[in-house]
Amino acid sequence: MASRRLLLRELAQVASPGGREAPVRGRALGEVEVIEDAYVLCADGMVESVGRMRDLAPLGGEVEELDCRGRCAVPGLVDCHTHACFAGDRVEEFSLRAAGASYEELHAAGGGILSTVRATRAAGEEALREAVELHRGWMLRHGTTTFEAKSGYGLDRDTELAQLRGIAAAGGLPTWLGAHAVPPEFDSADAYLDFALAEVLPEAATLAEAADVFLERGAFDAAQARRYLTACAEAGLALRLHGDQFTESGAIPLAIELGAVSVDHLEATGPEGVAALAASGVTGVLLPASALFLGRPMPPARALVDAGASVALATDFNPGSAFCESLPLVCSLACTQLRLSPGEALAACTVNGAHVLGRAGRKGRIAPGYDADVVLLDAPDWRHLAYHLGGDVVAGVVVGGAVP
Ligand code: NIG
Ligand code: FE
Repeated sequence: MASRRLLLRELAQVASPGGREAPVRGRALGEVEVIEDAYVLCADGMVESVGRMRDLAPLGGEVEELDCRGRCAVPGLVDCHTHACFAGDRVEEFSLRAAGASYEELHAAGGGILSTVRATRAAGEEALREAVELHRGWMLRHGTTTFEAKSGYGLDRDTELAQLRGIAAAGGLPTWLGAHAVPPEFDSADAYLDFALAEVLPEAATLAEAADVFLERGAFDAAQARRYLTACAEAGLALRLHGDQFTESGAIPLAIELGAVSVDHLEATGPEGVAALAASGVTGVLLPASALFLGRPMPPARALVDAGASVALATDFNPGSAFCESLPLVCSLACTQLRLSPGEALAACTVNGAHVLGRAGRKGRIAPGYDADVVLLDAPDWRHLAYHLGGDVVAGVVVGGAVP
């Protein structure tokens, strides 16, 4: 059978994280391989070859061609942390926060996450799938070709499972955030976990790839997080944590102890946490759009990278703490607020995001053998990805070797 081929030709640049390792750490994080006046040849959904136009050998057989003059190609962006499956909005809460209310106060008063839980429970499975599809379209327009999405707005059996199915049906990689908040029908976090682990985990483990917990004052403490994550690991799920968002409550030591894939947020992480994470195999997922949206301190990204930690960047897209689906904007924040270089930002939301999602080696680079997921930037230099703050920098995407 003839192969399905697509040639991206006359690209001003192709820029891809250097090497073949994942995750990329330390000095290597900023190393980008740039090919000027370049082509990318895709075949059967994969990258077949990448090189300079002048080295492109004549191609036999049928090849679809895309003229990419004036454009740059970077790998399809990988958003490894989103809450893209929700109903309703939190614009009222946004206005209250603008007037001075804090995110944690609203949460403690039964608003915040729990108000999205009410809307999500009432929505029904079809509406939830449609919501993820809508959000996926928004992400795609900003260059995200692979995304993770968490449950955590159901907190009952049917809605949690409906969220996980809706995420998968819309092309996302599902994470069971069964320990996001304690729903109102339970009077303690432990009683809720008794229910969630007995009644939801067995089926959630067949639908999700990972489990996640919100380890924070007002949510779950370290002992409860350990209990939840240990049961999830036994059920075969990879482990993730929301940790150090407002307080250092033991998320990093727990993540290391349990061999978690990632600990995400880290806005409150101090020097000891930085050193511990850097010496571990756990990736720190940085969510600067969330820190910006809540007016919180930024995570210690520069210290983490300089200490040799594995870091990834993600949006945290959700209706409460980060109503933002744009990884290019996150890259701008990484360069302006986290003091990362454009190259470090690129690797953090491509190859390192792919590592967090267990897709390293397939996603996150433009190199032979990788999936042909490419972002075409409407710019003469790939660094415009981060440079154009809130700009319309994504001209289009290629997903699996085809224009969607
Ligand atoms: O990553 N902090 C916990 N969870 C989400 C926000 C969820 C929400 O506010 O709806 C976060 O920030
Ligand atoms: Fe989150």
